[in-house]
Amino acid sequence: MKRTLIDTDPGTDDALALLMALRSPELAVEGVTTVGGNAPVRQTTRNAIGLLEAFGCRDLPVAGGAARPLRGRYRYAYDFHGRGGLTVRLPRPVMGPRRLPAHLFLLSKAYAFAGELVVVCLGPLTNIARAIRAEPRFRQMVKELVVMGGAVQTPGNVTPYAEFNTYNDPEAAQAVMDCGVPVTLVGLDVCRQVLLTRADLPRLEVNDGATHLLGDMMANWFRLHPEKAAYDLCDPLAMAATIEPGVLVTETRHVRVVTEGSERGRTVAVDGRGHVRVATTVDVERFFSLFWARTLGGA
Ligand code: BDR
Ligand code: CA
Repeated sequence: MKRTLIDTDPGTDDALALLMALRSPELAVEGVTTVGGNAPVRQTTRNAIGLLEAFGCRDLPVAGGAARPLRGRYRYAYDFHGRGGLTVRLPRPVMGPRRLPAHLFLLSKAYAFAGELVVVCLGPLTNIARAIRAEPRFRQMVKELVVMGGAVQTPGNVTPYAEFNTYNDPEAAQAVMDCGVPVTLVGLDVCRQVLLTRADLPRLEVNDGATHLLGDMMANWFRLHPEKAAYDLCDPLAMAATIEPGVLVTETRHVRVVTEGSERGRTVAVDGRGHVRVATTVDVERFFSLFWARTLGGA
């Protein structure tokens, strides 16, 4: 089992990825950290705790993280994920976040599982960059970072160049690409190939509370976006790559993140000497068989 920590900004696709993780026997999820991104961090923290409670995982610790990127402010995605970030209202959570801020909570897990911890990064990379800054031995302690972020050979989704998570904290993204821990970069290049459509919605209407909630969430999302034919399963693809790395084909590169000017947030694969495995191809069929098996669980 992979010792896993999930850093997230729920977010509709984060919610799908969380349920996949919790229903995957390959992963031992040790905790969840939150970051601002799709919504302010107070809201993403509340969403994360509310989701875990709805999924029956009240005991899983959640630590709240960065309210701001290393520079500037986050641009939130209410237009995409709806007000509140999930398109559904969850009951007020019973539990609260841990006292420890996200980056220190992450480090506490890295100390506890030195050399074993895999961090799945589903939001802007601010918490991870803070942990790298705070602990010079980060590289020795963390085994792998699986990052949903970037758009290497394809246009961005915030600007023509930048994907949302890297756009929201390019300085942090650069620190992560340079930190020496192997990174698997799951960018829009592959995420745009795994699409959920309206025709898939009835599959989520099952007699299982967690799946049903996510079915309502996705139905609301399609109502919010009548012009859209499909939904990119970005964060679920990063989670699938954590569970079954063979779902992606990758090429090892050095990745540079543009931090200035109109291309701010752009991810550029420079050469073959780095330690970033840039995802270039996805086995769509294999992804969907895993996605449905895990989101539908026992239903
Ligand atoms: C990423 O941006 C967010 O809106 C999604 O949750 C995903 O992590 C896709 O660009
Ligand atoms: Ca996300």
